[in-house]
Amino acid sequence: MFRPCLRPSFSWASFRRYTSTEGPAPRVCVVGSGPAGFYTAQHLLNHGPPQLRVDLLERLPVPFGLVRFGVAPDHPEVKNVDHTFTKIAKNPRVQFYGNLHVGVDVKVRELRQLYDIVILSYGAAQDRKLGVPGEELSNVISARSFVGFYNGLPEDAALAMNLDVEDAAVIGIGNVALDVARVLLTPIDTLRQTDITDAALAQLSQSRIKRVFVIGRRGPLQVSFTIKELREMVNLEGCSAVFNPDDFRPFQSVAPLLKRPRKRLTELMLKTALTPPTEKQLKLWGPAPPKSWELRLLRSPLAILGSDSSVSGVQLGVNRLDGPNLTEDQAVVSTGEVETLECGLVLKSIGYKSVKVEEGIPFDEQRGVIPNVNGKVPDEPGLYCSGWLATGPKGVIVDTMNESYRVGAQILEDLKLDHISVQANRTEELRTLLDQRQVKVVNFVDWEKIDETEKLWGASKGKPREKITEVQSLISVVKKP
Ligand SMILES: Cc1cc2nc3c(=O)[nH]c(=O)nc-3n(C[C@H](O)[C@H](O)[C@H](O)COP(=O)(O)OP(=O)(O)OC[C@H]3O[C@@H](n4cnc5c(N)ncnc54)[C@H](O)[C@@H]3O)c2cc1C
Ligand SMILES: NC(=O)c1ccc[n+]([C@@H]2O[C@H](COP(=O)([O-])OP(=O)(O)OC[C@H]3O[C@@H](n4cnc5c(N)ncnc54)[C@H](OP(=O)(O)O)[C@@H]3O)[C@@H](O)[C@H]2O)c1
Repeated sequence: MFRPCLRPSFSWASFRRYTSTEGPAPRVCVVGSGPAGFYTAQHLLNHGPPQLRVDLLERLPVPFGLVRFGVAPDHPEVKNVDHTFTKIAKNPRVQFYGNLHVGVDVKVRELRQLYDIVILSYGAAQDRKLGVPGEELSNVISARSFVGFYNGLPEDAALAMNLDVEDAAVIGIGNVALDVARVLLTPIDTLRQTDITDAALAQLSQSRIKRVFVIGRRGPLQVSFTIKELREMVNLEGCSAVFNPDDFRPFQSVAPLLKRPRKRLTELMLKTALTPPTEKQLKLWGPAPPKSWELRLLRSPLAILGSDSSVSGVQLGVNRLDGPNLTEDQAVVSTGEVETLECGLVLKSIGYKSVKVEEGIPFDEQRGVIPNVNGKVPDEPGLYCSGWLATGPKGVIVDTMNESYRVGAQILEDLKLDHISVQANRTEELRTLLDQRQVKVVNFVDWEKIDETEKLWGASKGKPREKITEVQSLISVVKKP
């Protein structure tokens, strides 16, 4: 329910206009249909003027962003958030425009003319670079592309890689690093029951990978993965966890003093490193586990070794923690020591990165975000951003939800205070423009047909769905050529 917030700058004229069903309807355009786009729209619909309308624009013919193309196939419970998003999309005041690439099919500056409010929520579709020699060798793959590959993201669904190797290195110690390591190590028959694509299953079933090294440049108190994901990794079927006890011993005395959740996470790492496997682990791993993963901390990648056709290893600089007190804020310094880790595949998992959608739209290249205060783009009345594009590529769906609600609240505050001018009598101008440009828009009813088709196809194979991974094939489910 809308609750008026009476501020000092409050005026009855703007309040009446804001709450009346008779005033001009604020027209809102949200670019991107991931969690940020949906949650920002939800806040505006639930708490804004009753006549406010939202158009949700999406580059791909399918909605939900990283919920479909990021979240790991063996985490189906996380994807249930799509039920909430579906309810939002089916609100009569919402229109979904899929297969509409903003910056290409239509420009943000055009959207600024057509709508009172434009919210950019198009996420982070690129990855950070390591900047070390050898990064461009084949079989050095970004975790983002590998995730896109197993989740059927059209541009990565046919990713070329060589899994005919025994050792793989994952650089980075966040949750994406653990996701990709887990997918490489999970028994193929377990993956077969998920919505992982058939193409990924085909490649992974030929994989000879036995060992995965997960490499972090900092220490045990600075890992950025979380306990649920670590727990899965130390309880993998047929795969032992190998932690160097010497890396962890010094942390025994500080672990009890840490705040939760860092405390529980550190305790689990200490247990894995310093105590024998539990009964449960011995049962899961088996007497001679065919696979293993190893956490290598305090190692910075210096170079990736190999030739054009293959990777042979990673050169790592050995670091140490600086200063007498073991804390989360400690700096690391190089010891000058260098070691080589032999491997045939490198997955770079050092974070995603947002890109500028078009010239003339404010963008902070250094931080990879649109500069904003609470989602509001300075000096651009009516322009906002939310989600990873506004905060940087950090945070789980709940964090993105909370941030997006905050942006929604800021927009409503600006509407109330007349900081956004709402034009009367706007027509369906976007539709006219897209018709002129012959853009084949996929609407939400179309998506529901695609969804049904994928589920039916998956059911025939004992999977929740078989994703259609080509843009043209997705469109041809709903549009005649
Ligand atoms: C690999 C991975 C796994 C994750 N797993 C989990 C998990 O298990 N649990 C959890 O809570 N969180 C998880 N997260 C975090 C979660 O996915 C993010 O918090 C959330 O998706 C960020 O939402 P967003 O809307 O900002 O970005 P996105 O989800 O990326 O959505 C952006 C949308 O914008 C669209 N878009 C891009 N460019 C354009 C354009 N030019 N025009 C129109 N549309 C465009 C994209 O196609 C996409 O649909 C994971 C993240 C990653 C990377
Ligand atoms: N299951 C889940 O809930 C789930 C799954 C996947 C993702 N997510 C969320 O999505 C967000 C993004 O995840 P992410 O793993 O991409 O990012 P992340 O958590 O920021 O981790 C990035 C990792 O890369 C390292 N790194 C960065 N630059 C590096 C460099 N030049 N050399 C070596 N290492 C480098 C970082 O180390 P430093 O700390 O030293 O910089 C960090 O360990 C996170 O909030 C994550 O929790 C959640």
